[in-house]
Amino acid sequence: MVESYKNKVIIAGCGPGLKAYISPKALYNIKKADILLGSRRLLKLFPNINAKKIIIEKNYKIMVDRIARWRSSMQVVVLVSGDPCFFSYAKMIVKKIGRESCIIIPGISSMQLAFAAIGECWDNASFISLHGRNTGYERLIRKVRDTCMVGILTDNKNTPAVIARWLLERGIHDRRMFVCESLSLPEERVREMDLTSAVNIKTNGASVVIIKK
Ligand SMILES: C[S@@+](CC[C@H](N)C(=O)[O-])C[C@H]1O[C@@H](n2cnc3c(N)ncnc32)[C@H](O)[C@@H]1O
Repeated sequence: MVESYKNKVIIAGCGPGLKAYISPKALYNIKKADILLGSRRLLKLFPNINAKKIIIEKNYKIMVDRIARWRSSMQVVVLVSGDPCFFSYAKMIVKKIGRESCIIIPGISSMQLAFAAIGECWDNASFISLHGRNTGYERLIRKVRDTCMVGILTDNKNTPAVIARWLLERGIHDRRMFVCESLSLPEERVREMDLTSAVNIKTNGASVVIIKK
């Protein structure tokens, strides 16, 4: 398998956290990187890769311009968590350099793993990300009213407890909440409760919430 992606940026989905969830195709291409970019956590998964490593955090807007410049002379590989086509940095890169200049290697999304963990199908679900957002709650309410299952990406402000409080304040009571935390990692925890109990729930790691009618 020799793959040559001249002038293209490879965006590799790295799954929910456990290295075993990264596909062989992503691993093969990550090994060919001249420049490897990603969060501190993702870069730590590849201590033996002989590439220049660049941490992406608050510098993500500047890095998109650099990625666009570097791609003509070096193999740039960007690591993203979960699946690149599900609420990720890939969108910004594709917008900047065009989809014909990107090779996107899918990954297992935290959302997929959350549905697997609770044994439910996600073919009729709807999704929303509250990760890093100050808005979205009105949309969330609409989705919860209209769909049987809603998968939500959270963060440390938009926590499962905050989400539960919001739903109750809008008169939504008759739902189950699943809180799927640190999926695939040793500290993984999956809990099910009603919304009233969820108001007091504490989480430590990244979590996906699923609301079920
Ligand atoms: C920027 S979004 C990236 C989503 C990613 N593209 C995906 O497909 O999973 C980050 C959010 O994904 C969720 N997440 C990522 N890894 C997770 C994990 N191991 N366990 C639970 N949730 C996770 C959390 O809601 C976190 O705030």
